[in-house]
Amino acid sequence: MVTVNGRFPGPRIVAREGDRVVVKVVSHVPNNISIHWHGIRQLQSGWADGPSYITQCPIQTNQTFVYNFTITGQRGTLFWHAHISWLRASVYGSLIVFPKHNVSYPFAKPHKEVTIMLGEWFNADSEAVIRQALQTGGGPNVSDAYTFNGFPGPLYNCSANNTYKLKVMPGKTYLLRLINAALNDELFFSIANHTFTVVEVDATYVKPFETSLLVITPGQTTNILLKTKPIAPNASFYMLARPYFTGQGTFDNTTGAGILEYETSSNSTTFTPTLPPINATNVVANFTRKLRSLASSQFPVNVPQTADKKFFFTVGLGNSPCPKNQTCQGPNGTKFSASVNNISMALPSSALLQSYFFKKSNGVYTSDFPSFPLHPFNYTGTPPNNTLVINGTKLVVLPFNASVEVVMQGTSILGAESHPLHIHGFNFYVVGEGFGNFDPNNDPKNFNLVDPVERNTVGVPSGGWVAIRFHADNPGVWFMHCHFDVHLSWGFKDGMDCVGWDTPQPEASSSTI
Ligand code: C2O
Repeated sequence: MVTVNGRFPGPRIVAREGDRVVVKVVSHVPNNISIHWHGIRQLQSGWADGPSYITQCPIQTNQTFVYNFTITGQRGTLFWHAHISWLRASVYGSLIVFPKHNVSYPFAKPHKEVTIMLGEWFNADSEAVIRQALQTGGGPNVSDAYTFNGFPGPLYNCSANNTYKLKVMPGKTYLLRLINAALNDELFFSIANHTFTVVEVDATYVKPFETSLLVITPGQTTNILLKTKPIAPNASFYMLARPYFTGQGTFDNTTGAGILEYETSSNSTTFTPTLPPINATNVVANFTRKLRSLASSQFPVNVPQTADKKFFFTVGLGNSPCPKNQTCQGPNGTKFSASVNNISMALPSSALLQSYFFKKSNGVYTSDFPSFPLHPFNYTGTPPNNTLVINGTKLVVLPFNASVEVVMQGTSILGAESHPLHIHGFNFYVVGEGFGNFDPNNDPKNFNLVDPVERNTVGVPSGGWVAIRFHADNPGVWFMHCHFDVHLSWGFKDGMDCVGWDTPQPEASSSTI
């Protein structure tokens, strides 16, 4: 199991808005690895973003890489994680950004702040799990547990002693910073007999609203205020995390649990919250529609009112042919693939940012990523006959400061499924979402251009679409991908050699050492 400084979850990083963060990563593992600072905008520090093959070659055994970036105009809950293959199963930790000195939260100061990282545990080497799946072309073995700060909790065999306990005092307000670091599962989260107030998502403040249930996709964070009961009850309360899933394959259908305990109580009973059915898409939509930017004078909304560049991206699964002399376990004897506009990303031979910077991008990537599907079909209806994806290292080039709109349309090829889409280097505004196929004539009329939620990861609804807008104000090469690692692996196959900036380019080196 790969960990950072021998800890799981990894060490927490605490900074303040405006701080410069310097992290030296030394690799003592046989794996290639790199670390991504999920949600940090990396203004003028794209080299420090971290996704392997995008902004850097992976760090090799005994090598060192120094990440150096300044946190500008951001405060809230974020996290860091390994960004190659499935190593983030165990390599992740929180990244908490406090407001500047003398700047307060837009809500009353909580009595205490607590971070809860939800994770996904495999009773196996997660690298072996994805390696086997990519070999056979089938779905990977599912995980064995969901964890609260690394602990699975009492709903699994023999794990009662490994339970995360949140001890609280009555009549106080706690700020819980929830992070979904799971690999492949969106999670419902609830606390028995308690409601809470959502105040922040993805390190942006939202209009507070009260709820007893929330939904959080991998890559998302949610801050909630939990007001404890005025008098300590003689009971404790389960906090549960269980997946939301609509796909066709198998998934880890277990429930992770932590316990909320009042310090002064005798805990005679433990209450359990009721969670919605596993496939409750309507519950998810009802929750996400409640999210609105705070849109205050101190934290205004800067959503583009018009779009210079519009993109329509289909997001979903497809397949690729089974190599000769092999039997494959994917759809109809093929291999699972994932794509955007039917393009599955072929692994570049060099990191994209480096190859651009050193003017060596010829042969590494092309800038002809399609702005819309080349072969339109009924995206949420019966799939077309040919669902084979195209492999290519294709990029979209945006002019500096363009206002950009991207409509992401889920497809029902191999089953409708949601996709938590994450964009590096940017926050974006979620201006609209809906079910079925996006209607370019009517749906934009209902876009929220007043107080849309701002975030870095958004769930493309299962069998539906989501529309986002942002200003392209951050030069660099930025990865946009589904934050389900299984879909990332099916759409971006890693594992090959990567030519770095201080290594000779292949044409210059005819001999090897
Ligand atoms: Cu949290 Cu590209 O990832």
